Amino acid sequence: MGIQITPSILNADLADLAGEVARIGSADWVHVDVMDNHFVPNLTLGLPVVESLAKSSALPMDAHLMIADPDRWAPAYVEAGCGSVTFHAEAAAAPVRLAREIRSQGGRASMALKPATPVEPYEELLPELDMLLIMTVEPGFGGQRFLDLCLPKIRRARALLDKHGVETWLQVDGGVSLETIERCAEAGADVFVAGSAVYSADDPDRMVAELRARAERVRNT
Ligand code: DX5
Ligand code: ZN
Repeated sequence: MGIQITPSILNADLADLAGEVARIGSADWVHVDVMDNHFVPNLTLGLPVVESLAKSSALPMDAHLMIADPDRWAPAYVEAGCGSVTFHAEAAAAPVRLAREIRSQGGRASMALKPATPVEPYEELLPELDMLLIMTVEPGFGGQRFLDLCLPKIRRARALLDKHGVETWLQVDGGVSLETIERCAEAGADVFVAGSAVYSADDPDRMVAELRARAERVRNT
């Protein structure tokens, strides 16, 4: 699988989600940040909005659940139309069971790690996942500064995925921009979430293309 760009609509115009998604036609996925004011200190949107957006969006949806009790809620996001559902390792009571449930419903199962959560304890679980998300900011808000301290973990995660020979994608989320995407790609990430970088650009779709070109250049060297 090549480089994939998945813009986050967190910092887009939430009153016009369908219109905002239409501005990123060349993206691979739309990244939807679901926050519950418990797992993170911010509240965004939930199932009814996701369901409605899935119907109007031409792009597949990648739900990033920053919520408590994902064991209970995550499978419903597949039913709501998301092609990929990410739960947080720190919040899941039974991540293996949850990943299997998401997959059995036809969704791609993905697990996220906050900056202070190590990847090593989850090594044996990697074959159960379609994607691993390494957060490069503390989850909760868009527009934060990229945390370089996460780069070694991206490298270690890439090495573990290669060691197990799995097809699991490696996603990064938080502070990804033209300035930081090359570092992430160099460390081994292949799926890039970018929120403010895309939606603060005059032409969001052109920014998607520029981000993709930078990551591809790193990969091809
Ligand atoms: C942060 C969210 C991210 C965020 C990305 O908690 O998970 O998806 O919206 O936004 P930027 O790219 O602005 O950091
Ligand atoms: Zn996110």
